[in-house]
Amino acid sequence: MDGDTQVPMAFSADRLTKRYGTVRAVDAISLSVPACGIFGLLGRNGAGKSTTIKMLTTLLPPTSGTARVAGFDVVRQPVDVRRHIGYVPQMPSADVDLTGYENLLIFAKLYVVPRPLRAGRIDDALSFMGLQEHRNTLVGRYSGGLRRRLEIAQSMLHHPQVLFLDEPTEGLDPVARHAVWDRLQALPAQLGTTIVLTTPAPSRKGSRKRLTEVRLMLRRLAISLLLTRAL
Ligand SMILES: Nc1ncnc2c1ncn2[C@@H]1O[C@H](COP(=O)(O)OP(=O)(O)O)[C@@H](O)[C@H]1O
Ligand SMILES: [Mg+2]
Repeated sequence: MDGDTQVPMAFSADRLTKRYGTVRAVDAISLSVPACGIFGLLGRNGAGKSTTIKMLTTLLPPTSGTARVAGFDVVRQPVDVRRHIGYVPQMPSADVDLTGYENLLIFAKLYVVPRPLRAGRIDDALSFMGLQEHRNTLVGRYSGGLRRRLEIAQSMLHHPQVLFLDEPTEGLDPVARHAVWDRLQALPAQLGTTIVLTTPAPSRKGSRKRLTEVRLMLRRLAISLLLTRAL
């Protein structure tokens, strides 16, 4: 719950800002996103999407402004924030020298999933992301789409309240992209998780098709935000 209202918030930001020298990577964004469903953060390359996500996941300290995630302040209560969130970074993060199952086991331990629950949670995540038949395959042999699905499976093991996904489908072919979308659409109802994902805004001359796809993907979403600074 957010302090003075009764509406549960996945996150809220108040003039959240990140500067690198003279570069304003994120420039005083303020918004509140209610829990439940999928929230999309759209913007061109360099608009500040990843930086925003990194501040919300406590990986980067804001230069100024405040943010609360799952009811906790990102600067004053970082441990509480981390306990209630999952995060899949933009860059691949799964260990290619381990199997899918072994990667999931490491994450189950990192996220402190109680030992008696681990095997069941791993099994559920593998099934949910359609990875059962690949559980004992080395991740180095996975396609890009399978790897992304594994990274999302890793991030859901502790049933996070808010799941941050930075460009979860970039670089995937359309079939792999739709496989990821379909599963993401089902996740909020399945776990009561709010998904916050970033996706590049289609360029002006760029594809109408891509914009249609983004609209479709976010069809059940509560709100979408255009980071307009770099548009
Ligand atoms: N560590 C950094 N040092 C300096 N500038 C950075 C750093 N990280 C990001 N930036 C700059 O901040 C802006 C926003 O970057 P980023 O959040 O990665 O955008 P996006 O994810 O929307 O592509 C860009 O202009 C980028 O060059
Ligand atoms: Mg980015």
